[in-house]
Amino acid sequence: MASKTTSSVAAIVLAAGKGTRMKSAVPKVMHEVAGRPMVLHVLDAVKAIGAARAVVVIGPDMPEVGEVVRPFETAVQQRQLGTADAVNSAKAALGDFRGTVFILYGDTPLIAPETLRHMLAARERTKPATAIVVLGFRPEEPGAYGRLIVDRSGALTAIVEAKDATPAELKIALCNSGVMAVDGALLWELLEKVDNKNAKGEYYLTDIVALARKKKLRCGYIEAPEKQLLGVNDRVDLAKAEAALQDRLRRAAMASGVTMLDPASVFLCWDTRLGRDVFIGPNVVFGPEVIVHDGAEIRAFCHLHGAEVGPGALVGPYARLRPGTKLGPNVHIGNFVECKAALLGEGAKANHLAYVGDAEVGAKVNIGAGTITANYDGFFKHKTVIGKGASIGSNTVLVAPVKVGDGALIGANSTITREVSPDALAVTRAEQREIPGAAKRYREKKLAEKAAKGKAKDGKG
Ligand code: UD1
Ligand code: CA
Repeated sequence: MASKTTSSVAAIVLAAGKGTRMKSAVPKVMHEVAGRPMVLHVLDAVKAIGAARAVVVIGPDMPEVGEVVRPFETAVQQRQLGTADAVNSAKAALGDFRGTVFILYGDTPLIAPETLRHMLAARERTKPATAIVVLGFRPEEPGAYGRLIVDRSGALTAIVEAKDATPAELKIALCNSGVMAVDGALLWELLEKVDNKNAKGEYYLTDIVALARKKKLRCGYIEAPEKQLLGVNDRVDLAKAEAALQDRLRRAAMASGVTMLDPASVFLCWDTRLGRDVFIGPNVVFGPEVIVHDGAEIRAFCHLHGAEVGPGALVGPYARLRPGTKLGPNVHIGNFVECKAALLGEGAKANHLAYVGDAEVGAKVNIGAGTITANYDGFFKHKTVIGKGASIGSNTVLVAPVKVGDGALIGANSTITREVSPDALAVTRAEQREIPGAAKRYREKKLAEKAAKGKAKDGKG
């Protein structure tokens, strides 16, 4: 049967493996890399090449994987009989698909869309289209990987699993990454012919190459760098994948106009968005859903999560921005300031030691050192609203729900429980009292006491 050329693409992502070596209560592909389950990184690559459909093959007790991959479908592989059986589990969902079917692993999160595009191009370069294109690589330690058997014309003739390989075959440096692009019109009939008569007693997906060759169909391969094909088997691999992805994200950020003083100490999330001329100091951590607009500066030792930083804003050092924070243009958030669900208008400042939570802060407001929005009564959260141009004196507690009018002034160390009118001055601290000369009298009395005590001691000694 001749395979027909088509650009329509679907994907099967294998994720039924238990991942025993992760020693985890959570399925392996749910472990996060750059702040997101690794299977979603694979699906991102699938999306990026415009796949019309994707099916994630999961084990019988992995409902949480089904949840996170939505709207993509899942198919359950009841027992893990091997990679061919795993792919076959997707037959009900994709059996009628006639385009190119990519097979990927859910635990290989670094695969780049360009690589998949190259595979597609390699498949469609020939006439008729190549039945199977395998993604090969040359790992530093070929070890347990399957080996690609290539003939003199450069065509792929078979994949031999390490456990079934001869010593000569084991010397082959070119290995199987596991990623394949297969003609959807052929895949299912090839899978039917796969048996489990091999060293592992498993149904090997890799056998479809030799089966296709038997039918005189052309198979080929392309190569990709090993760093894209890192498979996560344990927590050490997970850390390696994290490091590799962080490196990629940092480079992309710098390429788009971000300055990083010490990129290796900056941790980004898969979705971190940084504008042009953003400056990031050392030791800054970005959790999910952070946007930093052009020209903003995030100084050393800040932690941001679910926050938006306006253009030209200045954050840190040592600031924490929590979900729901939105800083307007040129806002200043200084050291040891925590913001949560706080909207700060243009040019507002909280430069030292403050907690601003569930708050709306107008433009040009100044929040003094030690100010706290007391937003929680032990049961419910309440809101603080501070009008534009208001000034909150140091060490103020704003007991929410409470409003401070535009241009109002709060005296230092006040506890504000009621609304303050615009342009009013509110102070709640006790009045200052002065007793003339009292300090001097006190000092003299104490010095005399001390001198008397010292003499008594000398007498004894
Ligand atoms: C497989 C390849 C090998 C390749 C290597 C690359 C086969 C027979 N061998 O070997 O040539 O070099 O990957 O890493 O395909 N899975 C299921 N259900 C199963 C079995 C596996 O979903 O019944 C999933 C696993 O979760 C995993 C992937 O398929 O994501 C690969 O399975 P694994 O057992 O790790 O294959 P290898 O023996 O490493
Ligand atoms: Ca493996």
